[in-house]
Amino acid sequence: MDKTVLSQRIAQRVKEEGGRVFYVGGFVRDFLLGVENKDIDIEVHGITPEKLKEILEEFGEPLSFGKSFGVYSLRGYDIDIAMPRRERAIGKGHRDFEIDVDPFIGLKEAARRRDFTINALMKDVLSGEIVDSFGGLEDLKNKVLRCVDEKTFVEDPLRVLRAAQFASRFRFSIEERTRDLCKAIDLSTLHKSRVEEELKKALLKSDSPSVFFTSLLEMDQLKYWFRELEDLVGLRQDPLYHPEGDVFVHTMEVLDRGCAYLHKVREPYAFMLLCLSHDLGKILTTEEIDGRIHSYGHEIKGLGLIRTFLNRFTEEKDPLKYVLNMTPLHMRPFSLAAARSSVKSTNRVFDEALQPEDLIYFSLADKGDKAKKEEIDFLFRRYEIYREYMERDYVKGSDLIEAGLKPDEKFSQILDYAHKLRLAGVNKDAALKQTLAYAKKL
Ligand code: CTP
Repeated sequence: MDKTVLSQRIAQRVKEEGGRVFYVGGFVRDFLLGVENKDIDIEVHGITPEKLKEILEEFGEPLSFGKSFGVYSLRGYDIDIAMPRRERAIGKGHRDFEIDVDPFIGLKEAARRRDFTINALMKDVLSGEIVDSFGGLEDLKNKVLRCVDEKTFVEDPLRVLRAAQFASRFRFSIEERTRDLCKAIDLSTLHKSRVEEELKKALLKSDSPSVFFTSLLEMDQLKYWFRELEDLVGLRQDPLYHPEGDVFVHTMEVLDRGCAYLHKVREPYAFMLLCLSHDLGKILTTEEIDGRIHSYGHEIKGLGLIRTFLNRFTEEKDPLKYVLNMTPLHMRPFSLAAARSSVKSTNRVFDEALQPEDLIYFSLADKGDKAKKEEIDFLFRRYEIYREYMERDYVKGSDLIEAGLKPDEKFSQILDYAHKLRLAGVNKDAALKQTLAYAKKL
């Protein structure tokens, strides 16, 4: 059964028992914004949890995520079914909340625990009536993020990141009082996984991810989780190459240009992390020499800083590997293109990159409109050549063993040699002969 139909059937049964069911949260907000949202959350009012459980049993197997939280789901359905509740912080951790489930608290009180007015809208599942207890419709119209309740808002530090995340996804402004509240919240108690969850939404679901970081900067909230980005603010660059301004401004532009390539790149999240951190090395290397600003070697010297930065909020190893691999290469594509370098040289760079095509897209995001069409064409043509070379048959370890070599300590050096011939486009027969001759010399 479709989730909407299921919601309606449940709502009908709840109505027969004297209660009401509402769509709540992002589902209602996105419906009103005309944005697709497949995550359905419903809230059941006016019947007891026991009655709700009985009703849910008519539709399948209710799964309860801890009865005390008043949140259920049904096996096989990706839908959250909650009962109204009050939440009160009893500590600083994100799980330190006292939860008081009360199906009879009324619509306004139930909506009070929500973060922003636009997320506190409710829609009656059966009649479609919109219940707007805190002015969410007006705020949606004016594109404003405003907290629902000042007292409870500050109890959940994640809301600072959520404010920045929604600001970037929907291009909403953060209302002044809400921004002031956000300024005073301590984010250090958040678990990194929750920080990453909001960051991912900003990087992958927004077409202006820079707003996530500029909003945090305005709220003085880059300082804990993203402190290295704060160091980019005011970090000067040579105006000849970077007329846009300091390294922070440049990084923000790269992010916004980068997200235009998300549908093309192989690893979207890692790609955006590369956009975010590729120039952190400038913090360590920027210096003025004879009146010109340089940051020699920033693409290599910044790797330790990037590792520290990313490890603070990600537990995923693959994006880290990707960024550490691609950062040292990030300026290579355009220097190869400017020099019209040999196929061997472009192949070597592509071969070093974990995702060579992503490297090209990154360099386009980095260069922006300074990228010349003939250079872009050059890079994609060279990438095609690289792919074509990689599809050809080549000398493998088994070929060398068959030809009489032993897999001893020199073997990997010999294989490296064969690989270089492959990158130079030498055909397999010739490459095998040359490799065996090289092995003999060794
Ligand atoms: N919510 C909240 N405070 C939080 C997290 C969630 O008040 N720290 C409430 C909001 O009303 C939110 C709803 O719970 O709309 C659902 O949260 P979630 O699924 O995390 O986000 P959505 O608002 O649905 O947005 P999206 O999933 O599109 O990011």
